[in-house]
Amino acid sequence: MKISGAVRYVGVNDHEKTIFEGLWPLPFGVSYNSYLVVGDKVALVDTVESEFGDEFIRNIRDEIGDRKVDYLIVNHMEPDHSSSMKLVRSNFPDIRIVTNAKAVPMIAGYYGITDNIMTVRDGESLDLGGCTLTFHMTPMVHWPETMMTWFNEEGTLFSGDAFGTFGAVDGDIRDSSGARLSGWLDSPEDTFSEFRNEMTRYYSNIVGKYGVPVQNAMKKLSGLPVRRICSTHGPVWETRIQEVVSLYDRLSRYEGERGVCIVYASMYGNTAEAARALEAELIRRGVPYAIHDAARENLSYAYRDAFRFDTLAVGSPTYNNEIFPPVASFMNGIVSRGLKNRKFAAFGSYTWMGGSVRQLNEKAQNLGFELLSDGLAFAQGYAPGKCDMSSLADAVLKD
Ligand code: FEO
Repeated sequence: MKISGAVRYVGVNDHEKTIFEGLWPLPFGVSYNSYLVVGDKVALVDTVESEFGDEFIRNIRDEIGDRKVDYLIVNHMEPDHSSSMKLVRSNFPDIRIVTNAKAVPMIAGYYGITDNIMTVRDGESLDLGGCTLTFHMTPMVHWPETMMTWFNEEGTLFSGDAFGTFGAVDGDIRDSSGARLSGWLDSPEDTFSEFRNEMTRYYSNIVGKYGVPVQNAMKKLSGLPVRRICSTHGPVWETRIQEVVSLYDRLSRYEGERGVCIVYASMYGNTAEAARALEAELIRRGVPYAIHDAARENLSYAYRDAFRFDTLAVGSPTYNNEIFPPVASFMNGIVSRGLKNRKFAAFGSYTWMGGSVRQLNEKAQNLGFELLSDGLAFAQGYAPGKCDMSSLADAVLKD
């Protein structure tokens, strides 16, 4: 697929995989994006999952016929982008791998490749003849070896995982030409609205721990006159650059929009009833919210909305004197992502001795969250009047 004068899309859509990284559901599939930059010499930017290798090589041949690929630019070594490297070398035996020093041992370790590798440093360039590629080190967006490649003449940033989304892409890969999230049934005017949820879920689950490195990378690249962002997942951004950059900026600063993310789990329905009562209060008061059952849903959706909204309301029964395991797992993920700048309220049932609300509050305080109340612990069942969620809603909405 022709993207511009010199850039060709040669990536693939994966509609088969149901769980990404062995953890995260893919209701709309996922794309592994790879690009050719065609000058006097030809460079391939990243590869695709190895199971799509045949399709990948066909895509390359469709674009350049019998020409050879001179360089393979390795921006990122996670296998969803690197695992066709050996196949590429077997099809283009003279190809020179261009990457940074941190990727070299990973290439040797994963694929046993140690020769014909050219290492580049931050700011160095490669001249393809009419196309100049400059390499910018962006460590921990998403692994230590990650770098981005800037195509000077066309204002194109090959950004690796950054600005990527879950979801295979139907039609043209460019947002300017109507890229569609595969399987999405609505037909909104605004393409970005289709991808926003999956971009936020991708960011919060895959990159969310690395807010500071993302901010560093964004500052470092802020002077570039970007006309096009070619990520390794999801659409090529041409018309929605401003929106995707500002979404990444907000998420990586851990800045939530006004609203409440309720996450709960329940043994016998009592904490669930309290969660639904809080939900009813938020609806009645017109407050944006999301609600997630940590025992029944994949946690990636709860993490997405914890990153999205500025307030977190977490409900857990006391179980073995501790937080109920599904909720503890959610909170561990919040700790591991280093979520910041949240307001927090806890609630939950107990039978003979509480503890979950106190322990949730302690975790929230350790994260620097603002406690909106002491929380609402209730014994032997939730009942309106006995313990009223409107008081917790008052606390949650006090601003
Ligand atoms: Fe899509 Fe970090 O790999």
